[in-house]
Amino acid sequence: MKAIRGATTVESDNAEQIRERVFELLNEIKQRNGIECEDVECITFSSTDDIHSFYPAKAAREAGFFSCALFSAMEPKINGSLKMCIRVLIFADTDKKPVPVYLHGAAVLRKDLTQKMNIAIDGPAGSGKSTISKIIAKKLNILCLDTGAMYRAFALKCKKSGVDCLNDEGVCALAENIDIEVKYTDGIQHTYLEGKDVSEEIRNNEISMLASTVSAVRCVREKMVELQRKIAQNNSCILDGRDIGTNVLPNAQYKFYLTASAEVRAKRRHEELLAKNKKISFDEVLTDIIKRDEQDRTREIAPLIMAKDAVLIDSSNMSVEEVVHFIERKLQEKI
Ligand code: DC
Repeated sequence: MKAIRGATTVESDNAEQIRERVFELLNEIKQRNGIECEDVECITFSSTDDIHSFYPAKAAREAGFFSCALFSAMEPKINGSLKMCIRVLIFADTDKKPVPVYLHGAAVLRKDLTQKMNIAIDGPAGSGKSTISKIIAKKLNILCLDTGAMYRAFALKCKKSGVDCLNDEGVCALAENIDIEVKYTDGIQHTYLEGKDVSEEIRNNEISMLASTVSAVRCVREKMVELQRKIAQNNSCILDGRDIGTNVLPNAQYKFYLTASAEVRAKRRHEELLAKNKKISFDEVLTDIIKRDEQDRTREIAPLIMAKDAVLIDSSNMSVEEVVHFIERKLQEKI
């Protein structure tokens, strides 16, 4: 006797779709495990508390599992769990190693069984990339790489060394031996410059502008992109930046381009800076954002543009939760 696990999701709580998705899940489990209805002793289902319209066990009976014991239960509400999800546990008479089956986005429940996942989120300054990326990464339990932090750390190095970010020669000399590292503590990114954690020091307007300037220099981009690709190659992760979908990971399975009007972005950044007690006027933030947009979009190497296969999200009138929900849905469609 073997225990076979599986799960699927539905887009809405309606009987027809629940029936269809349960049929599909059970069929896939039968096929991938080489079993027939008669081999099954017992099937138990659990569904999240947002599903009320139909018993998955009833769908199993309709799918031809006449002689086995069937049972459905509702799961407790667990914060942050995958929504609209039906899980199944099948006891079957087979000698084969069980093959678990996760459909319609439910694969996120079992990252250990699924392939490495790389998600690219690009967009202009203040579009909410970092906030959204962190939330999604936490939900999927994967790494989140804020690539802008690396350019910021480089800019800080230029500032400390008294090298003008517009001086390509001086900048490239620094790039040769630059020591920038990204480490994670409890899933949170810390950016190190020459062994020192500079995660906070790089969050100010001066460094934002310098990072934008220095990121246009070829040798800097080559160094940073190499490091970014290495992290993405070894880990399931979500990378946020300007050129992830177009240049760093052109083959990423999931690409999003997050934007919002310059005014909305400036307002968000301004509030963020005020919350950190950094005194700056809204107009100053807006001017910087517009200037940075222009620099990032018009530079020669890997400029900020939307990848052809990215999903566009204009978050001007969307809450953080709405954007997260939208991205989750898109991911579920593809997984
Ligand atoms: O995302 P951010 O504001 O922390 O980025 C700072 C600057 O770094 C941004 O203005 C342009 C540059 N950058 C880049 O050129 N490519 C990336 N992938 C990320 C950031």
